[in-house]
Amino acid sequence: MKYRKLGDTDLSLSVITFGAWAAGGWMWGKTERKDAVEAIKAAYDLGVTSIDTAPIYGQGTSEEIVGEAIKGIQRDKLQILTKFGMRWDLAKGDFGFHSKDNNGKEIDIYKYAGKESIIKECEDSLKRLGTDYIDLYQIHWPDSTTPISETFEAVAKLIEQGKVRYAGVCNYSAAQMAEAEQSVKLASNQIPFSMVNRGIEEETVPYCIEHHKAILAYSPLERGLLTGKIKPGHQFQEGDHRASHPHFTPEFIERTDALLNKIRPIADAKGASLGQLVLRWTVERPGITIALAGARNAEQSVQNAKSMNIELNEEELKLINQSVDAF
Ligand SMILES: NC(=O)c1ccc[n+]([C@@H]2O[C@H](COP(=O)([O-])OP(=O)(O)OC[C@H]3O[C@@H](n4cnc5c(N)ncnc54)[C@H](OP(=O)(O)O)[C@@H]3O)[C@@H](O)[C@H]2O)c1
Repeated sequence: MKYRKLGDTDLSLSVITFGAWAAGGWMWGKTERKDAVEAIKAAYDLGVTSIDTAPIYGQGTSEEIVGEAIKGIQRDKLQILTKFGMRWDLAKGDFGFHSKDNNGKEIDIYKYAGKESIIKECEDSLKRLGTDYIDLYQIHWPDSTTPISETFEAVAKLIEQGKVRYAGVCNYSAAQMAEAEQSVKLASNQIPFSMVNRGIEEETVPYCIEHHKAILAYSPLERGLLTGKIKPGHQFQEGDHRASHPHFTPEFIERTDALLNKIRPIADAKGASLGQLVLRWTVERPGITIALAGARNAEQSVQNAKSMNIELNEEELKLINQSVDAF
């Protein structure tokens, strides 16, 4: 495994960080709790010391699973990343969307990052995770109803109290990052990036490079699509959000498959899977610090962790980039 520092901070993360959204089941159909715990432990054994979760992932379930998986591991050998600002138990802030929880109960999700709410959310997360500090505490989505200064003054207070080590954002524009920076020093932005979703290269990547902010690339496997296993007509489990996601239409899947076929010979020559090649490429891109790779079981998390065992030379990177640019 390789490790990288987040910008100017002292926080070092494993380049493959375990993404625990699917582990919590919610929006991904069902995930077995036992499988999810094993996925995290097996990845840790291969050097994946950093785990990203959020309260909204399974409405507490993902954080509890992370808490269970890390029991017995020395706390300072791990980096725990979680989030705040998506409430399913409080109707305040920006309405996000309507959903069903893991038990089929209807829930309304709000993006809300008011001061009191953040302080409460942090206490709840610490309990579920079974720890007394969070390494990176990130706003999950912008909340237009709360001044950015109020949100990040609350995070600064949590840092002062030792409950949080560093502040981060997710899904923030460069302008929103600059505003948050007035209240607290930001370590990172967590934002979508994959071979078939490179919108951040226009504004976020240049801003983060210039201001020494880390980028945590989420959905680097494009939610499983870039493993090459999903074909048009794929039947997802009930409750899996991918069934209606625009990147899972037959046209998008076929276009992606054509790209994967172009780069497959490079993976084959290295005895690597397509997913491993994709992850390795992701962390070689300018400005990308970390790939947050989700997994439902140990087989997937082990394969993802081992992506860092392959090396790509300049010629190979050039060939892959040409195919990706032509997408
Ligand atoms: N801040 C945000 O707003 C935000 C948003 C999205 C994600 N994230 C973070 O980023 C993490 C990663 O993103 P993601 O989970 O959306 O997408 P991803 O990492 O691109 O894809 C994960 C999914 O791909 C499949 N997969 C993973 N490894 C595989 C392998 N080796 N072989 C075959 N299939 C494999 C699994 O689903 P199947 O087995 O069902 O195909 C898995 O759940 C999340 O867990 C979360 O921590 C953050």
